[in-house]
Amino acid sequence: MAGPVTELQVHFWLILLMFALAAQTFVLLLLVNAPYGRFNRTGWGPTIPVRTAWLIFESPAVIVFALIYLSGDNAGDASPLVLFAIWQIHYVLRTFVFPFRLRERRKRIPVAIVTMAILFNVLNAYINARWISHLGTYPDDWLSSTPFIVGLGIFVAGWIINQHADLTLVRLRKPGESHYSIPHGGMYRHVSCPNYFGEMLEWTGWAVMTWSLAGTAFAVFTAANLLPRAVAIHRWYQEKFPDYPKSRKAVIPFVL
Ligand SMILES: NC(=O)c1ccc[n+]([C@@H]2O[C@H](COP(=O)([O-])OP(=O)(O)OC[C@H]3O[C@@H](n4cnc5c(N)ncnc54)[C@H](OP(=O)(O)O)[C@@H]3O)[C@@H](O)[C@H]2O)c1
Repeated sequence: MAGPVTELQVHFWLILLMFALAAQTFVLLLLVNAPYGRFNRTGWGPTIPVRTAWLIFESPAVIVFALIYLSGDNAGDASPLVLFAIWQIHYVLRTFVFPFRLRERRKRIPVAIVTMAILFNVLNAYINARWISHLGTYPDDWLSSTPFIVGLGIFVAGWIINQHADLTLVRLRKPGESHYSIPHGGMYRHVSCPNYFGEMLEWTGWAVMTWSLAGTAFAVFTAANLLPRAVAIHRWYQEKFPDYPKSRKAVIPFVL
């Protein structure tokens, strides 16, 4: 007779759910551009201001993640704490700093998108926080292991690329302006969406440094979410700007 369902099994099924969501998201976004930013359009129900939207939908990645992390048996151990700090550095900036850098604040985001993002962030917070502080095993010497060091290197490279690329974009506008122009410098020499390239690197680094299926599911979801949008943005630049640099790829330098 089968025994009671364990939390480890539930956790595993939720990871499978995230892989399924990644596949579904990828296919959907090849057909329809998510309606925010330059692809904003009516017909997606009620909307809220962009800054409020970012604050609301990214908050679970900080707050729910922290609460779930703190409920774990290993929350006070050195290696889980370092992983926790790395995650929080990214998400505290994304949630509480990035929205205040945006120069065009009249833009709005559909509540439907905000709701989906909240649900995803709660699921992702559970899967990853619960793994690092409770279900997974990270002894103190994990911090000198090859996966941790290599993964951290990939994460940091991605974080620098992502931050630089996002800052370059917001500086293209003065406060209140809403027009688009061609970004230059840094990784923009190679791709149209280095912010997405950096983001994908970051979560690939996280998957490597946690050496976990939980981290892998998030890295795969991030790529499934951002690759189709990057291709759409690249085409949009090429159509909008006749002088758009010909050698620039969409998101992966020299490849895509
Ligand atoms: N982990 C994930 O799955 C995930 C998902 C989504 C986003 N993110 C991250 O969140 C951050 C923001 O993402 P996003 O999709 O909002 O990025 P985005 O479309 O590149 O826009 C970022 C900001 O820059 C402005 N902007 C973009 N291109 C511009 C141009 N050519 N000229 C002037 N302004 C320009 C946008 O204005 P408009 O709003 O007016 O277009 C927006 O305020 C990125 O770092 C991304 O990696 C992560």
